[in-house]
Order: sequence, then C-alpha cells, then structure tokens
Amino acid sequence: MSTYQNETILKMIRGEKVDRFPVWLMRQAGRILPEYRAIRNSLSGFKELVETPELAAEVTIQPVDILGVDAAIIFSDILVVPEAMGLPYEMIEKKGPWFENTVRSKADVDKLPKEIDVAERLGYVTEAIKVTKRELNGRVPLIGFAGAPWTIFCYMTEGQGSKTFSQAKRILYSNPELAHELLDRITNVTITYLKHQIAAGADIVQVFDSWAGTLGPKTYSEFGTKYVRRICEAIQEVPVTVFSKGAYYAREELAELDCQTIGLDWNMDIAESRQIIGMDKTLQGNLDPCLLYADFNTIERKTKNLLKSFGNRRHIANLGHGVYPDTDPEKVKCFIETVKAHSIN
Ligand code: CP3
Repeated sequence: MSTYQNETILKMIRGEKVDRFPVWLMRQAGRILPEYRAIRNSLSGFKELVETPELAAEVTIQPVDILGVDAAIIFSDILVVPEAMGLPYEMIEKKGPWFENTVRSKADVDKLPKEIDVAERLGYVTEAIKVTKRELNGRVPLIGFAGAPWTIFCYMTEGQGSKTFSQAKRILYSNPELAHELLDRITNVTITYLKHQIAAGADIVQVFDSWAGTLGPKTYSEFGTKYVRRICEAIQEVPVTVFSKGAYYAREELAELDCQTIGLDWNMDIAESRQIIGMDKTLQGNLDPCLLYADFNTIERKTKNLLKSFGNRRHIANLGHGVYPDTDPEKVKCFIETVKAHSIN
C-alpha cells in the first residue's frame, strides 16, 4: 500500500521491523545550508519564502538531497497560526519574531476574529505541502507541524521571544479564565490547521511546545498538556509527535497522550525516559545540538553512544532541539551518516 522509497521513519513509528534507526534534524530546513541562504537572500525576507509554495517546497527538499535525512519537514513557522488569528508577525533579521499587536486583556481577546477561515488564511502552507509532496515523489515522508497552544500563547502575549515569558505567565496566574479562553481558541485553530496539512499530504505531524520548560508540573498540566491532549485526540489520521522542550517533569503525563512519538531534549536521559514513558511509544532525539561543534571523531563517538542508549527500541535519531544556524553542514552529515551506518536487528 505504501509508495515510499524510504519509509524507515513510518515503519519505526508503527513498531515494524527496520534495519537501522531513522534520522532527521529539527530545523533542518533553512538555518544551516548555503543553498537555503542563496534563495533566502534573493527575496525580501523570511515571510516571502514561507508564503511562496514553490520556494518553500524547494528549501523543504534541500536537506533530503543534500544531507540524506529520512524525512522532510515542511518549511514554514509556528507563527503563521497567530497571524491567521489576527496578529501579523514580522521576522526581524538577527533578532527574531516581532508582533506589533499583542493580547494581554479580555478586550484584546475579544478583538480577535471569532471565525477564522483556516483553509483560506493558511492556504499557502497547504499549497506548499502539495507542491513538496509532488516533488518529493515518494522519496521520504513529509512532516507537518504546529506550535503547541502554550508556546503560541507565549508569542501572542509577549509579542516576541523572552527569557522568562513573564508576561505570558502573568496572565496564567492573574487571569486564568482569560488564559483558558485564548488557549482554547488557539487549540481549535491548530486542530483545523493540522487537519488541512494532513489532507494536503503531511504523513506525520509534530507539535512543538518549545516553551514548556518555563512552566512547572502543575501549571503545565493545567495550561499545557490539557490542550496538547485535545490536539492528540483530534488527530487520528497520521502519527503525532509531541516535543515538549524542558518538560522532563511532565514525562509521566506525556506518556498518557494519544500520540505515537515523544520528543526528548538533551536534558532527558534516554534510559530513564524509556522507563517513565514505557514501551508503547517511539522516542525521538536527543543529541545536544552543540555537540555538532565538536570534531568529526567526537561527533561519531557520541552519536554511537547515543545509538547504543536506544537499546534497539523504537527511536528516531534527532537532536534535542533545532540545529543551530552556525553549524557546519559537514558535521551534520557526520551525525546522519553515523546513524545510517549503525544496523539494528
Ligand atoms: O524544522 C524545520 O526546518 C522547518 C521549518 C521551521 C522553522 N521554524 C523555520 C524558520 C520550524 C519547524 C520552525 C518552528 C519554530 N519557529 C519554533 C519551534 C521549534 C523550536 O526551535 O523551538 C519556534 C519557537 C519558532 C519561532 C521562530 N522562528 C524564532 C524564534 C525564529 C528566529 C530564530 C531562528 O532562526 O530560529 C524563527 C525564524 C525562523 N523559522 C527561521 C527559519 C528557517 C530563520 C529565519 C531566516 O531565514 O532568517
């Protein structure tokens, strides 16, 4: 029934027999490849690339061609969701995301449009997925994604990145009803958006909760996992991966989610995580992205240690967070090739 030349990642997620661990890198599209910078520099900016399906497809496929990864991830950003909800973003060179308007009060939430035509507003992403699928022509599966509600809430309330996310957390503690109202709205849009990505051809979807680590066990359970759980329950069409960065304290709870894969950051020990999460899920991660600054021998050695720690259980090799922009692509290739050379039985 399958039409992929390489479906190692899907087989691993389904628990089928594979002869090696699948490998891809978070943030593999863009950031590190000179071939990406060349396209990016010919345009007005990041948004033009994200919003032009043919070009987004091209940079999505670059890591498959150049690095040899076992999956593509659609070139887009988690910030397209707040934009579709009425808060346009800008991507400022060397600084990152910036929102002119933020949501901090009931009046701000009430100003956001209630009905959002996701198909229309985010049609450029679904179109990019369709073009990518056509051009990938079955080489590897395609991963779609969205930010988790808590992480999107952080950007909508802060308007930019933050070390503490204290504006976002202020609302949780001072006006929890308002926080739930906004999280609920984000969740609804995210579910619809992911379903559109799947209908367009996404084979796996990943939910990025990049700022999960700013909350603690009880708070994350109330404002984070609650909404990720709803997403997992709503998405039954394809396997779902949940990556809650920094939420080592929530692994028991994450293990209960109706998802197939749990992403681990580099602070989470693999064996301990397996013990907590159990045998029913695939794990993904978790090499420290900074290890790719080391020399080739060190990268190979540490990658082999990582592979040993997987213990021939269901695991997708990846980094513990996105690859950093100043990483040498040859070092990335060293990581990927080391994974691919290691056979399992
Ligand atoms: O994984 C991939 O390669 C697919 C593309 C992708 C991008 N952003 C492209 C991008 C994905 C999956 C994301 C997710 C994303 N975006 C997250 C969650 C993952 C994580 O890293 O925690 C977050 C928090 C964002 C928000 C965001 N977008 C920030 C903070 C920044 C600025 C810093 C940076 O470079 O990451 C972005 C910009 C961005 N998103 C770039 C790319 C390739 C760089 C923009 C450029 O080309 O100038």
